[in-house]
Amino acid sequence: MFVFCLLLSINIVCFVLLGWIWYIIIKLYTDKHFRECPPYVPSVGLEKKVIIESVSEVLKLSAKQMIVVDPGCGFGGLIITLAKRFPEHKFVGIEWGGIVSKIAKIRTNKLKNTQILKQDFFDYDFSKCDIIVCFLMDSLMKKFGEKIKHDHKETTQIIFSNSFEIPGLPLIKEIKTGKNLFFKNVYIYKL
Ligand SMILES: C[S@@+](CC[C@H](N)C(=O)[O-])C[C@H]1O[C@@H](n2cnc3c(N)ncnc32)[C@H](O)[C@@H]1O
Repeated sequence: MFVFCLLLSINIVCFVLLGWIWYIIIKLYTDKHFRECPPYVPSVGLEKKVIIESVSEVLKLSAKQMIVVDPGCGFGGLIITLAKRFPEHKFVGIEWGGIVSKIAKIRTNKLKNTQILKQDFFDYDFSKCDIIVCFLMDSLMKKFGEKIKHDHKETTQIIFSNSFEIPGLPLIKEIKTGKNLFFKNVYIYKL
């Protein structure tokens, strides 16, 4: 009986997994919007460390309260680390995924300096933020760069991008991080 239940469970899991893989393949081929959206892959490893340390350097030296925004914050990993380190600055995560943004909200519940917005970041006004940290996707970067330039007013803005260059923005530094085939380097821009 136990073996039967075990085999049945394995079968069900495999069936669901196969269905999910087919769903992704079909969506990738048929849905342009789905193809162009960065999936939830959190910043990890050296790139995450470089971004956290580089942003920390800027925040440490700032006398005024800074606003740091993560468009497409996922579960909030990046800004949570920074928000805990710098309670005197303000952090905003923007995430349109329902469950993902809910989890980010729960994780930031106790952080008074952090806000999670469930929305499309292309509808957000970036003009008031000082720092942007992002980990998005190649196909989105041109549109994203245009959005940042469009919203920019007179204040200085520094943008840290994990792995993907942002065309049209003035690059001030590229930090080479290495060997990973898909995700590498951190690009820093200043407006
Ligand atoms: C690669 S993950 C990065 C997560 C996080 N920033 C980090 O570095 O750990 C990208 C996230 O962006 C979200 N996203 C993509 N396009 C978006 C949009 N237009 N508005 C809001 N969120 C978006 C996805 O749902 C996904 O969770």
